[in-house]
Amino acid sequence: MADTLPDIAACVFDAYGTLFDFNTAAAGARDELGDDWQKLSELWRLKQLQYTWLRGLAGHHAEFWQVTGDALDFALSQLNIDKPGLRARLMDLYLRLGAYPDVPAMLATLKARGLKLAILSNGSPAMLAAVVRNAGLEGVFDAVLSVEEVGVFKPHPSVYALAARHLQLPPERICFLSSNGWDAHSAKAYGFRVLWCNRFGQAPERIPATPDGEIGQLSELPGWLAG
Ligand code: LAC
Repeated sequence: MADTLPDIAACVFDAYGTLFDFNTAAAGARDELGDDWQKLSELWRLKQLQYTWLRGLAGHHAEFWQVTGDALDFALSQLNIDKPGLRARLMDLYLRLGAYPDVPAMLATLKARGLKLAILSNGSPAMLAAVVRNAGLEGVFDAVLSVEEVGVFKPHPSVYALAARHLQLPPERICFLSSNGWDAHSAKAYGFRVLWCNRFGQAPERIPATPDGEIGQLSELPGWLAG
């Protein structure tokens, strides 16, 4: 496995779990959720992703905002949590997720080196605009790309193709970063250079293609692009 990636002109980031910490939504309502907040957060995320894949397979696309709300409804119901106003509060918190602490400095370093920066996410345009703005990252990205432009969720190859098209770069000049193993593998299968930011210490996925490398946090990224 190489420890540098040559000729990279742009870095494209997954949003949720990679730049933005989805756990900060449920954590922000800990006063109401108590010890259940982590269980809720985990189940909410799991269902959210499952619903994107199920909708993709069935040809029933809906915006990520709806999928996120549906997944939250499932998780609240499964955990028997029923408090007035809590659903709306959690959905609002999803628009204000915190960026991981390693994100701002890493982005500033890459930008100073002249790399193009983009987000490529399942998130709908309004969700992404809100989370970028609320994390204080407005103006940092050259493009904030939503799957809504192609009408299908990751890992459909047309999503990854969207980034290459927007950036007007061949896929091998783009480094894609995701903490989601399945997203990292699928982006590599499309043709990007890929670093899997394995924030959660997960085992490698058993699906086609293997990312070019694995990092524990995004602060390691600039070192990979030094060559
Ligand atoms: C996204 C999800 C997969 O931002 O994390 O696309």
